[in-house]
Amino acid sequence: MRITVIGTGYLGAVHAAGMAQLGHDVLGVDVDEGKIEQLANGHAPFFEPGFPELLRNNISAGRLNFSTSLKQAAEFGEVHFICVGTPQRPGSTAADMKYVDAVIEGLVPHLQRPCLIVGKSTVPVGTAARLTTKVAELAPLAKVEVAWNPEFLREGFAVNDTLHPDRLVVGVASPEADAKLREVYKTILDADTPYISTDVATAELVKVSANAFLATKISFINAISEICEAVGADIMPLAAALGHDARIGNRFLSPGLGFGGGCLPKDIRAFLARAEELGIEESLAFLKNVDSINVNRRRSAVNLAKGMLGGSLQNRRITVLGASFKPNSDDVRDSPALSVANALQRQGAHVRVHDPEAVENARAVCQALDYTTEVEKAFEGAELTLHLTEWQEYRQLDPNRLSALVTSPRILDARNTLDVDRWRAGGWTVRAMGRPSR
Ligand code: UDX
Repeated sequence: MRITVIGTGYLGAVHAAGMAQLGHDVLGVDVDEGKIEQLANGHAPFFEPGFPELLRNNISAGRLNFSTSLKQAAEFGEVHFICVGTPQRPGSTAADMKYVDAVIEGLVPHLQRPCLIVGKSTVPVGTAARLTTKVAELAPLAKVEVAWNPEFLREGFAVNDTLHPDRLVVGVASPEADAKLREVYKTILDADTPYISTDVATAELVKVSANAFLATKISFINAISEICEAVGADIMPLAAALGHDARIGNRFLSPGLGFGGGCLPKDIRAFLARAEELGIEESLAFLKNVDSINVNRRRSAVNLAKGMLGGSLQNRRITVLGASFKPNSDDVRDSPALSVANALQRQGAHVRVHDPEAVENARAVCQALDYTTEVEKAFEGAELTLHLTEWQEYRQLDPNRLSALVTSPRILDARNTLDVDRWRAGGWTVRAMGRPSR
C-alpha cells in the first residue's frame, strides 16, 4: 500500500520506517529540510536504538523515501498518517494544534482521489470531528475520511513498540476505513495483536487516558515516597510489596525524580485543559495533583542536594549524571535531570553534566551548564554527585575508583537504581529519594 507519514520526529520517523518494514511503499514528509535530507541519506536525526538499521534497510530496499512536499504526499498516498507534534501551547496548558491544522490545510486541497487521513498525534478529544468538518470544506470533490489511530510507543523502545505493539486502537467512522487500517496492519494483526476498533472520540481518549494513568501511577508512588521521607520509612521494599499484587503490578511504580519528556507532562495538562473547555474539570481535578507531585520531586531533589552540602549551594561543585528525560534517549524535553541541574546552577552551584547521548541537545537548551561525555571526567573535583537519569552504564560505575577522583564522596540517587550498599562500601555517603539516610 502507498502510505505517507507526515511529521518525522521521534514518532513519525520510526512509524514511517516501521510501515516500510511491513512491506508498504512509504513517503515520509516534514517541513524541516535538514531533517528530511538527513533521513533520506540514512542518518537518524535522534538517538533511538535499532532505528538507524531499520531506516537504512528500508531505504536500500526502495520502500522508504522522503520529501518536504505535501503536494507530492497528496499525489502519492492512499493512507496519510499525521504524526506532527502537539506541544503545550505557549502561555497555556492546552495542546497547540497549529502543526496538525497546518498539515490538513497544506495536504487536503491537493487531494484528487479517495483516501484516508489517519491521525496518530496525541490530541484533545474532538479533534478528529473538527478536522472532518475542515476536510469537507477544503476537499469538496475527493472522498476523504479522517480516522484516529493513537500511538503508544515509548522512546528507547520505539522500534519494537511500532512493529510489535501491545495493542492496536483505531477510531473510524466507516467499515471501509476499518478495512483499510486492517490492511495496513495485516502483518501485526496476523501475530494475534489485540485490535480495538471504535469511534474516533474514544480512540482519541484512549491515548490521553493511558498517559494520564501512567503519570498517576508514577506520582502515586512518589507521593508515598514523600511520606516515607517524612517518617524514615523505605519506599523501595514498599514499592516491591505493592508491585507483587497482580492487580497493581510493578511497572511504572519506580519511585524517584518523576516523569518528564515530550508526552506525559504536557498530555496530562492538555487533558485537564480540554476537560475545562467541556465544563467537566472536576472529574479530572486529581491530575492537577499528579502534576504538582511530579514537579515537587524536582524541588525535593534540589533541597536534598542542598542539605547534603550543609545548606548552601553557592560555589559548590556538583556533578550531574544524566541529562535526557530517561535512559536510552537523547530527548531533553521537560527533562527532570536538566531541570534540577538548572535549579542548582541558578542557586550558585557549578554544575557539570554527563550524559552518554544527550549532551548536544542539552547544550542547545541550557548553555550555562558545563558538559562532558566522559563519565570519569564528570566526577573530577565534585563535592556532590547527583544520579538523575538511570542510564545502565551508571550502574556499572566503580565507587572505589571514583572516590579518588572527587573532592567529597557524596551521592544522591534520585532514581533508586544504584546499589547503595556497594557505594557505601566504596566510602561514599549515599542518600536516595524516599529511602532512609542509613
Ligand atoms: C510515554 C508513554 O509511555 C507512551 O506510551 C506514549 O506513547 C508516550 O509517552 P515516553 O515519553 O517515551 O512514553 O516515556 P516513558 O517510558 O513513559 O517514561 C516517562 C517518564 O516517566 C520518564 O521521565 C521516566 O523516567 C519516568 N518514569 C517512568 C518514572 O519516573 N517512574 C516509572 O516507574 C516509569
